[in-house]
Amino acid sequence: MSERGLHSRPEVTPERAEFYEKIDPLAVAPLWERLFTFMSKEPKMRAAPYLWRYSAIRPSLMETADLITAEEAERRVLILENPSLKGETAAADSLFAGLQLIMPGEVAGTHRHSPSALRFIIEGDGAYTAINGEKAPMKVGDLILTPSMVWHDHGNVGSDPVVWLDGLDIPLIRALGTMFTDLYNGGELHPEGRPDYDNIARFGANMRPMNYQAEGSHSPVFHYPYDVSKKALINLKKSKEFDPCHGIKLQYINPNTGEPVMVTIDCYLQLLPGGFSTQDYQSTGTWIYSVVEGTGKTVIGDSIFEWGPKDHFVVPGWLLHHHEPDSDDAILFSFSDKGTQEKLGLYRERRGNVTH
Ligand SMILES: [Fe+2]
Repeated sequence: MSERGLHSRPEVTPERAEFYEKIDPLAVAPLWERLFTFMSKEPKMRAAPYLWRYSAIRPSLMETADLITAEEAERRVLILENPSLKGETAAADSLFAGLQLIMPGEVAGTHRHSPSALRFIIEGDGAYTAINGEKAPMKVGDLILTPSMVWHDHGNVGSDPVVWLDGLDIPLIRALGTMFTDLYNGGELHPEGRPDYDNIARFGANMRPMNYQAEGSHSPVFHYPYDVSKKALINLKKSKEFDPCHGIKLQYINPNTGEPVMVTIDCYLQLLPGGFSTQDYQSTGTWIYSVVEGTGKTVIGDSIFEWGPKDHFVVPGWLLHHHEPDSDDAILFSFSDKGTQEKLGLYRERRGNVTH
């Protein structure tokens, strides 16, 4: 019986080689010569696991303040570019990550784009993100959303440099060919909108305005303060109900639907109790982590990454991994394409030996 060509290449006989050459100018190609290259039995990501240590990057990030203004750069960002995807402006197959710096007195002007973005604040106080002119004051550990095609700008009215993690779905939007970008009124700053914290007042108290009609599929909340999210984790720890694979892992949700905060980016904050090593977990989702508090290590396939506050690492899809926090509690923020995959009916996970 001859081998089947799904996972292995059929023999290239001289007749076949000649045929392949003959048909090449016709812009056709034999599928059986390609099947085994992409129809893998299980997912094989192009991205490899990687960790970016903040202490190594920070001096260079600060140097960019003298190198280019926020205005000239549009956004002064150092891409967390996965070496296995060099030149592709991506941290993982489906996700972009970067560290953005805004200096005191600077403004990053109003624009919008079809990629969805999150900001997770890493360092500094005094900056804000404005959505349609409504400002969200940014504090370390806050999550701020700038969903697809929503006007946004940033500013720093404090006295310290401010750094945040930018997480975007750029590789996905690029693959779909749905990239649009705009400058507000050709380059103006969006006029002031609703008062600060208005979005939290409307939707952040487990309530919503009567007869609210959703605008878009993203969360109407665009600011999730760290003190609120952290308090939930700390209080939940008292229950001692820890997920074997995740410790205590809370998903940021769209309060209007219970769905992920944005269609293409799903965000989480998790507490790993001190000394609590998680069990092996494997999912088709790609995860990018930002360490907020604590130290420990994460084992991803053959890689072992030791981490501390402000470090970032990527867990590409379908790689077995687990976390080992040191003796103190650790808090990790993460974002993922899990929500996108679930909408497409593609998300799979394996806990221990059980695949779902
Ligand atoms: Fe932007």
